[in-house]
Amino acid sequence: MMQPEQAVLAGVEETGISPAPESSPGKSGAPAVILQGLHKSFGNQIVLDGIDLTVKSGETLAMLGRSGTGKSVLLKLIIGLQQPDSGSICINEQEIVGLPIDAMNQLRKKMGFLFQHAALYDSLTVEQNIAFPLKRHTKMTENEQTTRVKELLAGVGMEAELKKMPSDLSGGMQKRVGLARALALEPGILLLDEPTAGLDPITSGEIDELILKLQEEHDMASIVVTHDLHSAKTIADRLALLHEGRVVIEGTFSELENSTDQFVSEFLKRDS
Ligand SMILES: Nc1ncnc2c1ncn2[C@@H]1O[C@H](COP(=O)(O)OP(=O)(O)OP(=O)(O)O)[C@@H](O)[C@H]1O
Ligand SMILES: [Mg+2]
Repeated sequence: MMQPEQAVLAGVEETGISPAPESSPGKSGAPAVILQGLHKSFGNQIVLDGIDLTVKSGETLAMLGRSGTGKSVLLKLIIGLQQPDSGSICINEQEIVGLPIDAMNQLRKKMGFLFQHAALYDSLTVEQNIAFPLKRHTKMTENEQTTRVKELLAGVGMEAELKKMPSDLSGGMQKRVGLARALALEPGILLLDEPTAGLDPITSGEIDELILKLQEEHDMASIVVTHDLHSAKTIADRLALLHEGRVVIEGTFSELENSTDQFVSEFLKRDS
């Protein structure tokens, strides 16, 4: 059985109805993701209680917050894997709340995502995992796919692991493969959920460098959820700290450091 995350990656919700018109690709500096007044509860539990955030093309926003504050939920709303109770999510100037699934699938082709638990297809090799979105969403020939898969894996230092199964990879390697798959369709928007969690400092540093390199090479709007402050400082232009369903502060790392808000300074102290 596929996990919901894997189903989204596979685009299996496709209905076969004619695709929505292509939205314009992100230009540098143009808002790629705009969140306004987002609310999300599960039963009595209010998780997101009015989130406003904008991420522009060419910019990386690090999303910080304690465990259980709704960071992964926020990314899932942006991908359309979950629906908000109220509020607006604009992707490349298109409202996605209430968007029909076939139009959402079209839009998702422009979004690369790495879920918190990589969500690789267990029964496919590394090579087949990366080729999957290419097979599904492009008209590439087998040869073109093979070349592209090799390029993508080389980009994350995983070209030697082509034939391995995900279960035979370490956690860090699975994240790298997930990252390569997220980049397969050259997305304008990149969403990464804890790309360095559970990794040793050296591997984390390598992933950070990789993310920085990708930012230089592609003009993406990126949201990176992380609890790793060092990583956030390295890769992000701006940071946003979630607490009790809201963004308590948003700004550069030094703006956060200079904040007089007690929760912000405690969060930075505890995590540094
Ligand atoms: N599908 C769901 N049904 C019910 N509750 C959910 C669901 N998804 C998330 N939650 C709840 O929403 C809250 C926020 O979860 P989320 O996974 O977004 O946290 P997080 O900030 O990503 O935490 P972590 O840093 O540990 O990954 C949690 O209390 C979680 O149990
Ligand atoms: Mg999470």
